Amino acid sequence: MSAPVAVTPGVQLRVVESADIAVVAGAVVAHAVRNAPEGVLGIATGRTPERLYAELARLAAGGLDCSRLTIAALDEYVGLAADDPRSYRSYVMAKIAAPLGIPAESVLMPSAGVDGARFDDVLAARGGVDLQILGIGRNGHIGFNEPGSAIDSATRVVELTASTRADNAEYFGGDADAVPTHAATQGIGTILRARHVLLLASGESKLAAVRAAIGGAVTADVPASALQTHRDVVVIADTAAAGPR
Ligand code: GLP
Repeated sequence: MSAPVAVTPGVQLRVVESADIAVVAGAVVAHAVRNAPEGVLGIATGRTPERLYAELARLAAGGLDCSRLTIAALDEYVGLAADDPRSYRSYVMAKIAAPLGIPAESVLMPSAGVDGARFDDVLAARGGVDLQILGIGRNGHIGFNEPGSAIDSATRVVELTASTRADNAEYFGGDADAVPTHAATQGIGTILRARHVLLLASGESKLAAVRAAIGGAVTADVPASALQTHRDVVVIADTAAAGPR
């Protein structure tokens, strides 16, 4: 692993082998859990953090107590039943909550049925998010904050872009038209209130988004670029996603 590089004052980039992302990120999350065992862990869905969640399950089996955490999801599709296997709640319960021993009542999901501002109030009432895990979309989205999302946006329902629906088609039998057209997502303003942020990126398909997010201007065209305004962001990326120095 190369030494972390400070990209902007609040953003550190650590470039690691793909296979090591989960272990390096797992150590960061474990540290946060030990510091705040009853705190709020913000979690992302998607392919990128799956191995991190397997690593956390391994650490939990070895004695890391995650059972008292609250976990707050970034987003959820609109129109799927909660127990639909393609819903993010199903993902969160199967890959995170169950293996970490976290009961369903400690899982917070944004949803179309809950006023977004109220979701943000619930997060605040629980003390706010201690550590927010993020992936990044090819178009630079975080959560489902698509390009154009305001930097101070709150949790709300958004329309998904065609490219995002295509990227998630594999969960819907390869049919992009079967991917819901809308989702509830934490806003960028919501995400920025987390005390610490951990963004994971893997693979060449994320290279342009990562570069624009941490090396370009802060712009609504690249929602993840808003992270440059946060004071504690760690980006863990493989060489394919981070690019040559
Ligand atoms: C998805 C999710 C995001 C995720 C991103 C990247 O659409 N809504 O929370 O971080 O897009 O997903 P992946 O890791 O599968 O590339």
